[in-house]
Amino acid sequence: MSKVYICTAIPYVNGNPHIGHAMDYLLSDAYARFRRNLGDEVRFQVGTDEHGNKVYSTAQKNGLPVEEYATQNSHKFQDFIQKLNISYTDIIRTTDPEHVRRCQEIWQKLSPHIYSAEYDGWYCEGCERFITQKEYEETGGNCPDHQKPYERLTEKNYYLRISDFRDEIRAQIESDQMKILPEFRKQEMLHLLEDTLDISISRPKKQLSWGVPVPGDDSQVMYVWVDALSNYITVLGYPDQDISDFWPATAQFVGKDILRFHAITWPAILLGLGLPLPQNLVSHGHVLSNGQKMSKSLGNVIDPIEVVERHGLEAFRYYFSRHIDNFIDSDFTWEKYDEAYNNELANDLGNLVQRLATLCSKNSVSGVSDGRGELAPEYMTLMDKFEFAKAFDYVWTQVRELNKDIDQTKPWELVKKGETDKAQQVLRELVVKIMQTAQLLEPFLPGTSAQIYQIFGNTGIIQRPETPLFPKA
Ligand code: MSP
Repeated sequence: MSKVYICTAIPYVNGNPHIGHAMDYLLSDAYARFRRNLGDEVRFQVGTDEHGNKVYSTAQKNGLPVEEYATQNSHKFQDFIQKLNISYTDIIRTTDPEHVRRCQEIWQKLSPHIYSAEYDGWYCEGCERFITQKEYEETGGNCPDHQKPYERLTEKNYYLRISDFRDEIRAQIESDQMKILPEFRKQEMLHLLEDTLDISISRPKKQLSWGVPVPGDDSQVMYVWVDALSNYITVLGYPDQDISDFWPATAQFVGKDILRFHAITWPAILLGLGLPLPQNLVSHGHVLSNGQKMSKSLGNVIDPIEVVERHGLEAFRYYFSRHIDNFIDSDFTWEKYDEAYNNELANDLGNLVQRLATLCSKNSVSGVSDGRGELAPEYMTLMDKFEFAKAFDYVWTQVRELNKDIDQTKPWELVKKGETDKAQQVLRELVVKIMQTAQLLEPFLPGTSAQIYQIFGNTGIIQRPETPLFPKA
């Protein structure tokens, strides 16, 4: 049994959750459930990122005190996480006083690598990021992600000396000691590392008061990313507690847009603290809406609650785990969603359960309580490589095989011919297989898996469910 620690990016609380936010949670949840299935002890962190300009200025636009606004939205994210049935163990808000105090201690520990200097350059509030002159020129001074001109800043900041850590970070990325997935992102990060200068890690309080105060300097607050990244260890109790049971993280799941902070800034902080780097940094693509980036101005933002309400939570988890690629951008449209629901969930899986349960109940076949067995090697390999959508495809081949098995073995014909024992034997074998499939489904569709166990996993006579698992829509 190993100890496993899984981390998710913590969203800014400057708005409501959207379907893109679900990706970090679903990927992490699938991995957490997979590892628990193997008998590992899993800690799994989620949370909300509440400081910084972005949150502060949206609170102001909404006419609310920032604390109140952050709390309201943090609760929306917490509800969202619950609604998605995410099996987290630890939850953090970056406004938690314990987190704030721990961040200040982290800052102090990093002080040998911190110096103060004048910053004169560009900033993007949308990205909460300092922009290099090179990027400024390449983009014509406009953030491609936020469609806004960069701001010019001239201010005193504290800097973290990246040059103290560059060689070590490079070595660990190259050797996969900190493995960055997918491979093409690893190459991107290696290039970026060479171009990264020392990182500004504070903002003057007169520009931004909504942040963690820098210890020993009343005029400065921490740059929001320093405070945000630290959540992965403060939530474990660092530096008050020994975190070596669960740190380094087994896997951190983040979107492609924020990989740079996790691949460069975060390792620099960790090395400065004398802590090991995460074992895997898994970077996912973005969910697009009708082939486009979701944005309020395009009016194509999709409300996840609406998606959940359309065909239920399991359908939501199904689509986002199987049809949204782990690593590259993928599209969501209502048409594709409905099609996947009807053709795959209702036709393939829902029908399978209904057909098999009906045949079993008619022929007095009882369930098997121990359908669980060794996981198929193909599935294991894909799950270990964080290729969850492909692992889910593998599960689906099993679902389709089982449908074919029923068609080919035709238990009803055996019954007609009076070969009841043989029919029962065939059905029992199919029941064992559907239970094995339920085990493979568990990380992705825990609710459905539990229903299949309930129907086929008792030792009484199997009963046909009154309503199918996925009624046709
Ligand atoms: N607050 C930072 C993360 C700090 S982690 C120490 C942040 N927040 S965010 O709200 O902008 O994004 C949170 C997560 O959602 C990120 O992993 C981001 O990549 C992901 N996504 C945001 N939009 C997305 C899509 N459209 N599709 C998939 N993931 C997306 O960045």
